[in-house]
Amino acid sequence: SIPLVIDTDTAQDDCIAILAGLLTAEADLRAITMVAGNVGFDRQVRNAFLTLNVADKLGQVPMYLGSRRPLVRPWVSAENVHGDGAGGLDMDFDGCEPQPEHAVDALLRLAEEADGELSVVAIGPLTNIALAVAKKPEFAQQVKHLVIMGGSNNDRGNITAAAEFNFYVDPEAAKIVFDAGFRITVVPWAPLTLRQAVFGRDTLDEIAGIDTPLARFFTRVCSSTLEFDESVGIPGTTHPDSLSVAVLLRPELITRSARYNVDIETGSELTRGYAAMSWGVHGLTPNATVVEEIDAPAFRQFLLGMLSLPTTPP
Ligand code: BDR
Ligand code: CA
Repeated sequence: SIPLVIDTDTAQDDCIAILAGLLTAEADLRAITMVAGNVGFDRQVRNAFLTLNVADKLGQVPMYLGSRRPLVRPWVSAENVHGDGAGGLDMDFDGCEPQPEHAVDALLRLAEEADGELSVVAIGPLTNIALAVAKKPEFAQQVKHLVIMGGSNNDRGNITAAAEFNFYVDPEAAKIVFDAGFRITVVPWAPLTLRQAVFGRDTLDEIAGIDTPLARFFTRVCSSTLEFDESVGIPGTTHPDSLSVAVLLRPELITRSARYNVDIETGSELTRGYAAMSWGVHGLTPNATVVEEIDAPAFRQFLLGMLSLPTTPP
């Protein structure tokens, strides 16, 4: 099995990514670490507990709270896209306690304990990962594989023309992480997610027909982004975060990838958080593998299979 930590700003597709970490046979999810991102921090924590609950895993996977704001800049929310990030779902949160240890210390400890075997899937802004490697530079070598959801591969962003949300929110953190020497795989927003990890009405109808607690949860948590995405011309809900977990667990889903030098813009306001992905002709040393194409039907099947699993909560 594959020991991993998911570093998340839990809302919508982060919930589905956590489900993939909890319910895929190959995965040994050691922890969930929380970082400031999509929606209010405490709301994200509740969204992660809702996800553990629907998967019947409450109390089985520890959650650690990390940075409540980006390294340098004020926090930027995506509540206009995500609403509360869980489609208004609620439950009784009594007894749902995160661990007292800080997420950055937990990441460092878990990497140490796993003795070179721990992978990290970072599906929010990179603040926690940057703090961890700042505190302990060897963390970059101790992590077996760091999968990062962020950026666009010489294509448009989703928060500005230049930038994707995760890198826009904390560009300084992203720059630190790409410079730190990790073994990195990037799952970009565009063109990959926009072309191959979008679920439109057909798939959503099919999911509605599955009618398990997990499928109902999917429909509910994806409802507000579906509305937003359709209003801006994206043909369905986008799932880069669960794809990031999936490519770690099932690398055969990747049908094309390439090595790039990835660097992040921190100086300009216009292009803040832009990911410059330079290929061979630019003469820079590659620091990341960027996923360019996936087996989209197999990814869809991966998710639908997972949503069909029986669990017992509401
Ligand atoms: C990223 O931001 C959020 O909308 C998603 O969860 C994903 O991690 C995409 O830009
Ligand atoms: Ca996310």
